[in-house]
Amino acid sequence: MAMQHDPDHQRLLIMDFGSQVTQLIARRLRELNIYCEIHPYQKVTAQFLADFAPMAVILSGGPASVTDENSPRPPAELFDLGVPVLGICYGQQVMMQMLGGRVERRDGSAEFGRAHVTPGAERIDLLTGWFMDASGREQVWMSHGDHVSALAPGFAVYATSPGAPFAVTADLDRRFYAVQFHPEVHHTPNGRTLLENFVRDAGFTGDWTMAAYRDEAIRLIREQVGDAKVICGLSGGVDSSVAAVLIHEAIGDQLTCVFVDHGLLREGEAEQVVTMFRDHYNMPLIHADEQELFLSELDGVSDPETKRKIIGRLFIDVFQKHAAEVGGAKFLAQGTLYPDVIESVSFSGGPSVTIKSHHNVGGLPEKMGLKLVEPLRELFKDEVRSLGHELGLPASFIGRHPFPGPGLAIRCPGEITREKLAILRRADAVYIDQIRKHGLYDEIWQAFVAILPVRTVGVMGDGRTYDFACALRAVTSVDGMTADYYPFSHDFLGETATRIINEVKGINRVTYDITSKPPGTIEWE
Ligand code: XMP
Repeated sequence: MAMQHDPDHQRLLIMDFGSQVTQLIARRLRELNIYCEIHPYQKVTAQFLADFAPMAVILSGGPASVTDENSPRPPAELFDLGVPVLGICYGQQVMMQMLGGRVERRDGSAEFGRAHVTPGAERIDLLTGWFMDASGREQVWMSHGDHVSALAPGFAVYATSPGAPFAVTADLDRRFYAVQFHPEVHHTPNGRTLLENFVRDAGFTGDWTMAAYRDEAIRLIREQVGDAKVICGLSGGVDSSVAAVLIHEAIGDQLTCVFVDHGLLREGEAEQVVTMFRDHYNMPLIHADEQELFLSELDGVSDPETKRKIIGRLFIDVFQKHAAEVGGAKFLAQGTLYPDVIESVSFSGGPSVTIKSHHNVGGLPEKMGLKLVEPLRELFKDEVRSLGHELGLPASFIGRHPFPGPGLAIRCPGEITREKLAILRRADAVYIDQIRKHGLYDEIWQAFVAILPVRTVGVMGDGRTYDFACALRAVTSVDGMTADYYPFSHDFLGETATRIINEVKGINRVTYDITSKPPGTIEWE
């Protein structure tokens, strides 16, 4: 990835030493309208610092021990930049050691989890808003094995905890701050205030707003694309929709969207997407109705991975065929997000890059000789939602639950038939209607019905039925990586089951899936 430092914003650098929660530092700062970038420590050289020109630097936590030879550290020049530095956990220890303090390995008595800090005699601005409740203490989240045993010259202690006599230390003259705990996690309830104090002290005014971002993104898209044509695969999901609307604002009819209907969409979905983008936004949109192609190739296939492979391959073929109709397109637009491009720290080798494969239209750019336009690659998911809001996308669209690329194929375990798909669509529509009616939609990360490959016996009226069973799924999650089932009331579940059985011909039994992830996954396949 070419480094692209935004010249128009005040910038903060987060140097990543491999903590599991480094991304949360960026999240908290973005919430404060601060522009920041995470970069792995291996990349942050003196030259990098000079080019990046941060207004402040945060050193993250990490699994290494500064007492080891060759443990990761920032370039010494960091401390001569004249900008505020905040060291968190490992960041605190590395800073202390480099500036002349001492860190010791505490074998066998590491401190993990909830702890309480109390203030020192002198109150500092970094801790404004702390220690306000009756207890006079502040809850923090600790996670460390090593500890600082002697402060570097110029530092003094401003808060302590039973396990960490140097919980908060600072060299106020140089504006170097060091905390043993993690202010970025939710278990440090006032951590955001600490981070806010830090960035205010550093002179940040909070100039990173979605309105500003939108204007700037539009300028950059125009600059990048010139008068060339751009194609964009539109799925109807939030990311590709926001990317399409933003690019359309920038370059109008130079953008053509391709919406592939693979016959595995939900009830009314294709109409909704086409109506919104073609009629409401007046965008050139190719509606590729390829239901027959996908469903005939999936005929008789029951293995989940085979289903995914077939769908992925056909999707690329179809997209390529229709994109070729546009003629002379030079760019492919994608809704890649920041978490997909952050280079994570790897202790087994060099920096590794994590990119979710389903965000890329598998190898198409190379195959078609297209360059990428990725206007969301600096944003987190909730920022994409606020950008969508800024662009005037309807709230109902922005808040939609995620929907997987292979669609209903992976909610139909076993063989996919048109009959099962039709039943599934109806049941899903009733279920989502129930969730909306009860005002629960926004509390849930994702909810859907899976139609099971089993028929069961029932009795309706005076007759015997022999119909499909289905499973309802609803989960809460932050990022889809872990999830828990949603605790619907029994009343809700009972009412929903009754409605589905009464309204959906073909289903006579409803179950609720209460598996968390892990060990389960969100989808059934
Ligand atoms: P799982 O089932 O792995 O799902 O817990 C996590 C999230 O990813 C979505 N998902 C997919 N999205 N292509 C996609 O675009 C896929 O093959 C796919 N499989 C799962 C799923 O809906 C959930 O949000």
